[in-house]
Amino acid sequence: ERVVKQKTLVEVMEAAAGFFQAQLDSHAGAAARAYLEGRGLDRAAIERFRLGYAPGFSGGQGLLKQFLLREFPESMLIEAGLVKKPEDGRDSFDYFRDRVMFPILDRAGRVIAFGGRVMGDAKPKYLNSPDTPLFHKGRVLYGLSWARAGVGKGATLVVTEGYMDVIALHRAGFEGAVAPLGTALTEEQLEELWKLTPEPTLCFDGDAAGQRAATRALDRALPLLKAGRSLKFAVLPAGEDPDSLIGRQGTAAMQAVLDGATPFAEVLFTQELAARPIDTPERRADLTHRLNARAAAIADEGLKREYQFFFRNKLYEQGRSQRAASGRRS
Ligand code: CTP
Ligand code: MN
Ligand code: MN
Ligand code: MN
Ligand code: MN
Repeated sequence: ERVVKQKTLVEVMEAAAGFFQAQLDSHAGAAARAYLEGRGLDRAAIERFRLGYAPGFSGGQGLLKQFLLREFPESMLIEAGLVKKPEDGRDSFDYFRDRVMFPILDRAGRVIAFGGRVMGDAKPKYLNSPDTPLFHKGRVLYGLSWARAGVGKGATLVVTEGYMDVIALHRAGFEGAVAPLGTALTEEQLEELWKLTPEPTLCFDGDAAGQRAATRALDRALPLLKAGRSLKFAVLPAGEDPDSLIGRQGTAAMQAVLDGATPFAEVLFTQELAARPIDTPERRADLTHRLNARAAAIADEGLKREYQFFFRNKLYEQGRSQRAASGRRS
């Protein structure tokens, strides 16, 4: 009786990472190599982050055909999210076609999914693996295995938006960089971050989408804050993300952005105060009301009181500086 060793999903994903890496080095990978070079990634970076290329040849069945020859069952390739079987009975095809590939590792460093980027302007710009038994998008942070090591050596845990940001940060020596995978930060991801460090720094893109992402993260994290557990918010120059900022202005500019990160409570206060005059008792009372409502969202009773106290002090300071300003005017 022949003993058939069942291949595991982990083995399939590892094999796929190797396949994409080999494709990048092949004739078919020339455009992808040029693309990566154009983005400033050298050979060492390509190897360190295990970047690859998913081919678009063979009618989009390059991986499927090779892996069937290597005795991976089609059902397993589908389960791994590497192959898609159309509902209408047409032939199965590769899920990733003609894209630059970023392997996504779990916290132990095993390949559990991929992100694939188009080299041109096609949409979607990034395609992520579908959820599989190994991969649940909202639970994973890109770069977590590297960031764990970095944070262990004293690096700041920095949450950015994208693949290229994580890579650029690590290459520039910011070894605590991670990114959620194109979604708002989930509660599970926040818990994962807090396991590593009490106060991770969020550093989203300096555009409207980045602002929205920061606000969503703030709203989601607020109820979960407690003694010794918070977030900081770093603001990038308009139009930049960490990758572009490091490319244009270098490591020192990035360091300055992170050094200028603002504590959670300060961001909340500034948000509520923003562009709203507090020059009458009614308007001040309205602000107090809104600040109290934000503080009330914190589940931890002790911290809730600290936030109320912090906001009262801020309001008092605000009132003093306003009176001083109007005093100077009169
Ligand atoms: N993303 C995604 N799907 C998209 C667009 C974005 O999953 N269609 C995710 C990716 O993880 C991406 C991140 O959101 O890295 C941030 O998006 P964006 O700022 O638009 O892209 P960049 O990371 O800046 O991509 P690049 O520098 O390669 O243009
Ligand atoms: Mn599941
Ligand atoms: Mn963005
Ligand atoms: Mn970018
Ligand atoms: Mn970006």
